[in-house]
Amino acid sequence: MATTALSPLLVIGATARSAGEIITQGLAQGRRVTGFARDPRKIGVTHPNFIPATGDVYDVNSLGAAMTGSEVIISLIGLKYDPKKESGFVDVYSVGGSMILSAMRRKGNRRIITMTSGGTEQIPPEKPTNNDVSDNFVWRERNVYQDMQRWEKILAVSGFDYVVMRPRRLAEGPKRNNLKFTIHKNHTAFDERTGGPQSTVTYADVAAFALSLAEGNTYLGTAVGIYSDLFLGNEAFKPN
Ligand SMILES: NC(=O)c1ccc[n+]([C@@H]2O[C@H](COP(=O)([O-])OP(=O)(O)OC[C@H]3O[C@@H](n4cnc5c(N)ncnc54)[C@H](OP(=O)(O)O)[C@@H]3O)[C@@H](O)[C@H]2O)c1
Repeated sequence: MATTALSPLLVIGATARSAGEIITQGLAQGRRVTGFARDPRKIGVTHPNFIPATGDVYDVNSLGAAMTGSEVIISLIGLKYDPKKESGFVDVYSVGGSMILSAMRRKGNRRIITMTSGGTEQIPPEKPTNNDVSDNFVWRERNVYQDMQRWEKILAVSGFDYVVMRPRRLAEGPKRNNLKFTIHKNHTAFDERTGGPQSTVTYADVAAFALSLAEGNTYLGTAVGIYSDLFLGNEAFKPN
């Protein structure tokens, strides 16, 4: 019986903490994987089916050069968290993401899987006074979450096949096969706050989920809240 080849991948933000498991698991499935990074030497992957690509998401030409038209794009770009100061204006999601879509349009790539955060569902309207760790973190980083919202809105009207993954807390560790999902079809409404604000999931489980989205139609055109019943505690949660 003929088998259908799995799509090749282009992982943008290949040095991200969530990228390692996606690249490793993707290669183990027999996929060709291109890793796009400002400094690909930091990716640390050597494999015959792995192609490092140098570039910046603000540079559409570098993005286009990494695409052949056939890859599923997995974008993990984000802003490094600085514990010493609140983030100022952020546009790496919305502008960087738009550059990715422009390059895809140019090269003919059709599908993009991207990661924002459960924080997009709960940006408090004003500084919280409730001592809730999650509310206070999201308020502090509201410029980041607001740009994630802009990116999701751009995707929703882009015409591309897309899925947004919205985990909350990611931690190292083996696969637990414990993911729960909430589907947000109209994810321009950001007031759901479902699934438990501090639930923890592992990079390994989220990677397996991301790869499952590379083929088929499940979840296309939606934002998927990714949760679990697990809370590993604040010590397991390491903002950059
Ligand atoms: N980790 C968590 O607990 C968590 C939870 C929920 C949501 N998220 C979100 O999910 C996404 C992935 O998370 P993560 O923790 O794996 O990310 P991360 O470790 O913070 O990595 C962010 C990535 O974005 C890249 N990047 C930033 N600006 C870039 C630019 N101009 N051009 C090219 N690459 C650029 C960085 O590259 P460099 O190495 O060159 O800086 C890095 O690879 C992020 O958007 C994050 O905010 C993370």
